[in-house]
Amino acid sequence: MKIFVTGGTGFVGTALARKLVEQGHHVTVLTRKIGDFTPGKGISFIEGNPTEGGAWQEHVAHHKAVINLAGASIFKRWTRESKAIIRDSRILTTKNLVSAMRNCKVKETTLISSSAIGYYGPHDDEELDESCAPGDDFIASLCKDWEAAALEASRYGVRVVICRIGIVLGKRGGALEQMVPLFKMGLGSPLGTGKQRLSWIHEQDLVRIYLFLLDRENMEGPVNCTAPDPVTNREFTKTLGKAIKRPTFMSAVPGFILKIIKGEFGDVLLKGQRVVPKKLLDAGFVFQFPRLNDALQDLLG
Ligand SMILES: NC(=O)c1ccc[n+]([C@@H]2O[C@H](COP(=O)([O-])OP(=O)(O)OC[C@H]3O[C@@H](n4cnc5c(N)ncnc54)[C@H](OP(=O)(O)O)[C@@H]3O)[C@@H](O)[C@H]2O)c1
Repeated sequence: MKIFVTGGTGFVGTALARKLVEQGHHVTVLTRKIGDFTPGKGISFIEGNPTEGGAWQEHVAHHKAVINLAGASIFKRWTRESKAIIRDSRILTTKNLVSAMRNCKVKETTLISSSAIGYYGPHDDEELDESCAPGDDFIASLCKDWEAAALEASRYGVRVVICRIGIVLGKRGGALEQMVPLFKMGLGSPLGTGKQRLSWIHEQDLVRIYLFLLDRENMEGPVNCTAPDPVTNREFTKTLGKAIKRPTFMSAVPGFILKIIKGEFGDVLLKGQRVVPKKLLDAGFVFQFPRLNDALQDLLG
């Protein structure tokens, strides 16, 4: 299958593109800076800024599936400017992709677009499946608009799947890249009350979910991409410390300090969501890493 990928140079996109090529697909990666990448067997790169329309859009129409992973990192202090970049890099990209899919030359195309579990906003300990309502903070509003932009493609007969992705745990990038150095310095400790739920997923399970969703033509709409066992921040801290054999402090970093250091993003770290992958489990998807301890041992042990 010919698959067009935005964000295919990023943390998730690199792992996904590698797996798709391994499985015999041909992947076209859109990147803003082609200089850093060389094409190989089963993979080619085209240059273009997905937040702007351009010649890159003509390529989209020749692909059977489009996977949309582009988006500026949220792991930074949120200012008015950085929030605009975080938002535009997702919403404008998705609008431009959908507009390009209007002219698809291939029948029965699929768009798998990203969203995040932040869609649900902060919650206590109740389970959240795909039918739950969105929240109303910055990330929730962003996810709502990001999803709406992608769902527009269904008007052109495209099957649209929205991956509400949890905190991706992987070897090169994402949350662990931020956390492990601190834990290695012996600075690992829970955040705030430590009771907030952290809904995570192993990068290899996420990649396998994309393959599953490409195949399952009856699946559409939002799909929670999280492991079936969300843990509290305190449990996460303990398990991560154990995986890298470092002591952790069970006295927590006070919430107000985190807010001073990280600003509004600190607030996100202090609140959580207990998200469950109901649609995937109902559809028979089998997680290779359903438990946090096994996932962290595999990645770091
Ligand atoms: N990682 C997680 O834990 C997680 C959790 C929930 C949701 N997600 C979502 O999943 C997607 C992939 O995540 P990731 O961790 O793989 O992200 P990533 O490593 O930061 O990569 C995202 C890609 O987006 C492109 N990009 C960056 N800034 C951009 C901008 N200003 N305008 C347009 N494109 C830009 C980059 O491609 P080029 O530089 O090649 O153009 C980059 O490779 C993102 O949309 C993210 O929001 C991730």
